[in-house]
Amino acid sequence: MSVLLEESKTSDDESEDDNSQIIKSTITEEPVNDHHVFVKEFTFLMSTMTELRCHHINRISAKLYVHALILISLLLKSAETWIPKRSHFLIIVNSYRKIWNKWKRVLQLKIHSLKDSTIALLDHFLAIRLKSGHSNVLPSGLLSPCPNKKRLSVADKLVIPNYSSREMYEKMFALGNTMYGQMTAGSFCYIGPQGIVHGTTLTVLNAARRHLGTTDMRGKVFVTSGLGGMSGAQPKAATICGCISVTAEVSKEALEKRHNQGWVATIANNLDECISKIRHARRQKEAFSIGYHGNIVDLWERFVEEYENTGDLLVELGSDQTSCHNPYLGGYYPVQLTYDESRIMMHEDPIRFKNLVQESLRRQVTAINKLSDLGLYFWDYGNAFLLEASRAGADVGRDESATGTLFRYPSYVQDIMGDIFSLGFGPFRWVCTSGCPSDLDTTDEISANVLEDIINEGVPETIKQQYNDNIRWIREAKTNKLVVGSQARILYSDQVGRTKIATAFNNAVKDGKLKGPVVISRDHHDVSGTDSPFRETSNIYDGSAFCADMAVQNVIGDACRGATWVALHNGGGCGWGEVMNGGFGLVLDGSQDAGDRAQKMLAWDVSNGVARRCWSGNNNAEETICRTMDQNKSLKVTLPNHVQDLDLLDRALQE
Ligand SMILES: NC(=O)c1ccc[n+]([C@@H]2O[C@H](COP(=O)([O-])OP(=O)(O)OC[C@H]3O[C@@H](n4cnc5c(N)ncnc54)[C@H](O)[C@@H]3O)[C@@H](O)[C@H]2O)c1
Repeated sequence: MSVLLEESKTSDDESEDDNSQIIKSTITEEPVNDHHVFVKEFTFLMSTMTELRCHHINRISAKLYVHALILISLLLKSAETWIPKRSHFLIIVNSYRKIWNKWKRVLQLKIHSLKDSTIALLDHFLAIRLKSGHSNVLPSGLLSPCPNKKRLSVADKLVIPNYSSREMYEKMFALGNTMYGQMTAGSFCYIGPQGIVHGTTLTVLNAARRHLGTTDMRGKVFVTSGLGGMSGAQPKAATICGCISVTAEVSKEALEKRHNQGWVATIANNLDECISKIRHARRQKEAFSIGYHGNIVDLWERFVEEYENTGDLLVELGSDQTSCHNPYLGGYYPVQLTYDESRIMMHEDPIRFKNLVQESLRRQVTAINKLSDLGLYFWDYGNAFLLEASRAGADVGRDESATGTLFRYPSYVQDIMGDIFSLGFGPFRWVCTSGCPSDLDTTDEISANVLEDIINEGVPETIKQQYNDNIRWIREAKTNKLVVGSQARILYSDQVGRTKIATAFNNAVKDGKLKGPVVISRDHHDVSGTDSPFRETSNIYDGSAFCADMAVQNVIGDACRGATWVALHNGGGCGWGEVMNGGFGLVLDGSQDAGDRAQKMLAWDVSNGVARRCWSGNNNAEETICRTMDQNKSLKVTLPNHVQDLDLLDRALQE
């Protein structure tokens, strides 16, 4: 296994006291006898201020049959080529610690030591504990065994609420006390680009269904930005939906990567070329993807000009997936600067850079507002775009009332996916630990058959569409060639579908139809897993969108019911301090015990969130939890007594 590292300049502004604490924290990982050597070397390296970025780690092939190795495979999976750039596993963002890592080639060492210690731990049925900071890769301890075979608990980035600010994060990260684990990567259930392609496909499809009144998207244009780790899925998903996508990307490297991969069909290097390609594609009415090399603000402003000059509105759907959760450190590039100028200014003159970002966000919103008045449907794509734009003073119509999550434009959860979550549908996923593509084919077939059987037995109209969308997805999944590394799959399903699929997989392992166990998991971006007032829970309007109980209860409940591992994280998605995420993994090894645990755990994992969404007033959730109670007589969920007479409130308040 090899690690390739690239160097570039960065700026860190820790004080001398901080520096001394950073060195102290870091060398605690080393033998005392070697401390004098480490201190000298590390002090020298700190003065060189070098940033490291991990580009590639050769995949480790694994034939995995025991739980320990399954876990290792998922951990290592996170470190393969497709690793999200900010995964906590790499410990590489923005601090002195990465210099340390380079010097010692710690990444390599830690992966090896993790492998050995994890196998040892799990062989003895002990639990592993992972926590934030420098112990994140190396398990921080052997703890007493769990009676229900839960093997691993991860808690990272959890911070006393009043201290969960971006500024504190920078400092705590430098001290080695915490790190940013994103979502699925943080709980070892990242499966490469497949999850995001599937989720984006469903979002674009349902946006068209809702706002264009059709899912026939031929000739319709979807404009957005970002061709990075997750955002890069947008053109691929749009093509699956059959529409024309135009994605602005300032980084040539990111754009070319998606082009070479085939997810972006053509590149436009300037605005004239881009508009001419759009006009041509609209006439042809073919699914087509254009990558515009430039700033999204220039693109939106050009659409306004085109309308003013020709009367043609060239775009029907619009969004944004720049990394606005981290707007001032490279997540959002302001239109006034070139890409290279931005890279320098964000470190050398951060205050000026911040002002430019905010001005750029205001310009972007002004252009979008004009187009939206003309008929564009725009949505926030869970990247904190509207939140940061409102902080920048843009005219996004933020509602400052008790609910506080409403803007002029809905988020995709408020308008599109939230109602689907409330039906209990969410991103269920699995990994075939044998690593055999034939096992994945078998699980595709099993899951499609299970969903078709459910439909044939009769389902309410409200959920039939969701089942059909996902049957279509899973039947075509192999042809989309989205598997990278682990043989993994995703589909959206509700509690009934998830439990039946898990049972069918477990039986297939037992009967030898599959060559190895299957790990079931999910994205946190689900009905229950995440409390995130500007994304997953943005459609909860009773003021409780800012509470984080659901995600925490989710993890506790999953753990008690026998998940193989559970994880709880602050941040991920919308940014540090803005979100609480819970995740799990459960190994189906064909045993009766694993099958029983999966049933109990999945029932909790879905109904926990549906019940909460029902109480908060979502009609889909109320219908779903009532149906679930009908199917399972032992389930008793308290239902809200909705206020029927709104005048009653008005009268009472007036009195
Ligand atoms: N909705 C979802 O389901 C979902 C899922 C994953 C991620 N996200 C969010 O989406 C955002 C993007 O995620 P990512 O992993 O792709 O991040 P990323 O940083 O890898 O990619 C963002 C890209 O945007 C480009 N960019 C930045 N400013 C630009 C500008 N003004 N014009 C044109 N291009 C610009 C960057 O060069 C970069 O390549 C994050 O905030 C993330 O949290 C949403």
